[in-house]
Amino acid sequence: MVSNLTILGIETSCDETAAAVVTRHADGSGKIEADVVLSQLDEHSAYGGVVPEIAARAHVEALDSLIEEALLRSGKTLSEVDAIAATSGPGLIGGLIVGLMTGKAIARACGKPLYAINHLEGHALTARLTDGVDFPYLMLLVSGGHTQLVLVKGIDDYERWGTTIDDALGEAFDKTAKLLGLPYPGGPAVEKAAASGDADRFSFPRPLVGEARLDFSFSGLKTAVRQAAQSIEPVSDQDVSDICASFQKAVARTLYERIGRGLQRFRDRFGDVENPALVVAGGVAANTALRSMLTTLCEANGFAFIAPPHRLCTDNAVMIAWAGLERMAVGFQPDGLDASPRSRWPLDSNAQALIGHGKRGAKA
Ligand code: KG4
Ligand code: ZN
Repeated sequence: MVSNLTILGIETSCDETAAAVVTRHADGSGKIEADVVLSQLDEHSAYGGVVPEIAARAHVEALDSLIEEALLRSGKTLSEVDAIAATSGPGLIGGLIVGLMTGKAIARACGKPLYAINHLEGHALTARLTDGVDFPYLMLLVSGGHTQLVLVKGIDDYERWGTTIDDALGEAFDKTAKLLGLPYPGGPAVEKAAASGDADRFSFPRPLVGEARLDFSFSGLKTAVRQAAQSIEPVSDQDVSDICASFQKAVARTLYERIGRGLQRFRDRFGDVENPALVVAGGVAANTALRSMLTTLCEANGFAFIAPPHRLCTDNAVMIAWAGLERMAVGFQPDGLDASPRSRWPLDSNAQALIGHGKRGAKA
């Protein structure tokens, strides 16, 4: 049996600079010793989205002190840490270089092994830290850069069942907010406006609904929102609320159908799994309406619905440290100092790149 392992994790793939220290106990349970995240939201909000060059510079400025802070809070020194785990993709290349090079430098200077981690694997394995979920399970990742339904069979063993063929879901929220004059990031603003809106006023499309494939498409929805807004100009606050509520309803219905099919596919293939689970990750998982819809869907299908705390659903370094720990515990070899950052790095190497997918694939 593996004894206790402690890892320093580093995350810099998008607009959060993060460092964490996490321990995995011999029984497979984990303990977050320290979790430090610095969001760059203020630096990017004026531009309505993440500016890669600004993000990379901000990571350079913040990372060293964040790592020191994480170590301080954990009460551990670098010599007490067993390994270093740094995100090496997918993401914005400038940020990845900063995090991975820093990880390499610490690993080299302290004589510790380095694990170059796939950011998506971090999201995928978080529920094992927070809820001890057993393989296999389904993971829905809904963030600003990704919308994926992934079968998690084991560590380094994933099947991507569905992805977006155009916009990511968070991106659709952000674009809808922008064209209605709401602030960035759009998700929380759209959710707030929707609370006082009439969800039945507009009938927005639900692309791909009814198709057997499990992919998603959200760009048509965004176009329909624009047309609806233009057709009723000048748009009042109540109109904005009604559009947001109708948009959110269309999204919820689309997800209900798409994911419902995914749960069925899981059942057909893993009928012997006694406690099947759907795990969510990504910033959009904060949306209350979508969460309650997913809860209902899972209940109706006999699945446990697992949503890690919001802080661990969005980008953080705990999940990177944890992915490193999981790898280390089952004997994966560390990565060499020649490990390269990769802006594209699908979890499932057999999954085909879909048309339009990955326009903003940098953002996970
Ligand atoms: O995972 P995340 O924090 O960052 C990355 O994408 O890397 O996700 C951010 C995305 C943004 O598009 C934001 O608009 C969306 O999550 N989001 C939401 C909500 N809170 C954040 N979308 C819908 N409803 C929310 N309450
Ligand atoms: Zn992410």
